[in-house]
Amino acid sequence: MLRRTFITSTSAGLAALGLGPPFGSWRLRGQGGLQSRAAARGLFFGCSLRTGLLEQDQAFAQAVFAECGLIVPETAFKWDHLRPSEGQFDFSQADRFVDVARTHGLKIRGHALVWYRALPPWLGGQFGGARAATLLQQHITTTVARYRGKMESWDVVNEAIDPSATRSHRPDGLSASLWLDQVGPGYIADAFHAAREADPDVLLVYNDNHMEYDTSYFDRKRAMVLDLLRKLKDQGAPVGALGMQSHMDAAETRFNPTKYRQFLADVASLGLKIILSEVDVSDEKVAGPAPVRDQAVASAYSALLSTALDERSVIGVITWGLSDRYTWLTKDHTRTDRQPIRPLPLDDAMHPKLAYDAIGGAFDAAPVRV
Ligand code: G3I
Repeated sequence: MLRRTFITSTSAGLAALGLGPPFGSWRLRGQGGLQSRAAARGLFFGCSLRTGLLEQDQAFAQAVFAECGLIVPETAFKWDHLRPSEGQFDFSQADRFVDVARTHGLKIRGHALVWYRALPPWLGGQFGGARAATLLQQHITTTVARYRGKMESWDVVNEAIDPSATRSHRPDGLSASLWLDQVGPGYIADAFHAAREADPDVLLVYNDNHMEYDTSYFDRKRAMVLDLLRKLKDQGAPVGALGMQSHMDAAETRFNPTKYRQFLADVASLGLKIILSEVDVSDEKVAGPAPVRDQAVASAYSALLSTALDERSVIGVITWGLSDRYTWLTKDHTRTDRQPIRPLPLDDAMHPKLAYDAIGGAFDAAPVRV
């Protein structure tokens, strides 16, 4: 395990740039990889990555092995990469991902068995309820059974709720999708039961986004997710955890730790674990040079994680990517000044940034899980 011990005062760096007082006079310090700092508190740390990168990019692979205890593929388990046709499965990418992870002693998280996006073209037609339900059950059963005993957790259903009227006209916020339209609202509980039948032990997760900030939209989202989780538990659906994607915005000031912390407690009161499942902090809207943006990003990581890790039902943190070299945000969220976006703990040269120690510092300060 690479040991990272470094002390660099960035306030001097910022002063040299003639910049104003930083968001928090961050200093890079810490020992051990992020996973070892998490594990010391009974937590885990991991990252998502695109299939093949561990074989294609040695520097990136070394960083993943040094920092992570778990990895999740960004696409390999999705329908558009698993299902070339209705009668076919192509597990080649997923098998390769699982093999590489296990070779390097990394735990694996499956993402995602049911989502309204990343669907193959042949799935666009009108299937009709019974056929769609059978297709969904067969997909989950075949996929989960194949990796039985190898997965730490599965995102069974991803992003089923959206309070915005464009995605849902329902009071429960269930958003329009092939599955809701053709199977009905019971598709969610059915998916969890199918996954449990295929693997009796794996942690089954409901994964969703937009639950962190203090806005009316996020309020409605949190309330709807909590209602869904209560209903699933009341129906006996085997949901074990809530995955909170936590795609954050360094320019967003409406983070209310008290309100966020209460939501975590409400989820935990249902007997559920919580995983921060896709954490990154976009600096797309933050003005200034990289050192200033890095401060803002680090502050956002620290505010989120210092609050989240106080809730003992939070079991781990997964960043969506590990290095700025491969963040999904580059494609979908480019800065107006065309500067590279910097949302992750390592920069594009695999060097730790202020965000790295904001994450490590949150682990170091977290209550120990027994
Ligand atoms: O693999 C093909 C490649 O063969 C082809 O040449 C290329 C053409 O564009 O596409 C490649 O597939 C792309 C894939 O990423 C791998 O890079 C897909 O088009 C692209 O849609 C896919 O985007 C992923 C997206 O989910 C949709 O699956 C992103 O990498 C991934 O970061 C993103 O992750 C989602 C989570 O699953 C759910 N939460 C939000 C998060 C960010 O959107």
